[in-house]
Amino acid sequence: MTPRLCTAAAACAFAASVIAAAQQPPARLGIGRPATQEEIAARDIDVGPDGAGLPPGRGTAADGAPIYAARCAGCHGKTGREGPNDTLVGRIPGDEFPFARDPKAPKTIGSYWPYATTVFDYIRRAMPPDKPGSLKDDEVYNLTAYLLALNDLIPADAVIDAATLPKVKMPARDHFKPDTRTERGKPR
Ligand code: HEC
Repeated sequence: MTPRLCTAAAACAFAASVIAAAQQPPARLGIGRPATQEEIAARDIDVGPDGAGLPPGRGTAADGAPIYAARCAGCHGKTGREGPNDTLVGRIPGDEFPFARDPKAPKTIGSYWPYATTVFDYIRRAMPPDKPGSLKDDEVYNLTAYLLALNDLIPADAVIDAATLPKVKMPARDHFKPDTRTERGKPR
């Protein structure tokens, strides 16, 4: 039986409204403030497989090489193959996709990544791990071009920008299904 908090009808109605109000979350908690446009823009950096969201700018492998040597080689190796952290460079003969039967096959940008645009997105948001977000967009384009060239996915002198990057054909492309989930009601 529900315990009674009141006896008179008016008091009961009042008690019921107090309990109902207490069960509703408040409209505002009285903490925080609305984010500014700059703050939103700094976090709204996702790049779609088709290149949606890529910023202005451009890069080449030649300009990426010195940035890579200074900021990436210590963890990923001189040519992206030596580690100690993830191997970034390397193709599998015949561009086969043996990962289901051979989980130890090296997963690199050249062997495993389905979209070139993700290389830009990932480096910009996550690398280097001690200072993510510190690279300028042109530096990220340069690094992306450098890593794609080391994987023999673009010519050494190719210019990479918002128009050319989505057109880079990745060997693993057709081994993945496109992600057609929607965000904020808009198809990706
Ligand atoms: C301090 C060491 C360190 C530095 C410096 C560093 N990385 Fe990394 N990187 C890592 C680690 C560790 C991972 C794996 C992260 C994970 O799996 O969550 C990684 C992952 C990556 C990957 C994804 C690899 C994959 O296939 O999953 C890319 C691409 C990458 N780094 C690029 C770069 C670039 C470009 C730079 C230079 C701007 C850089 N990294 C600098 C440690 C580093």
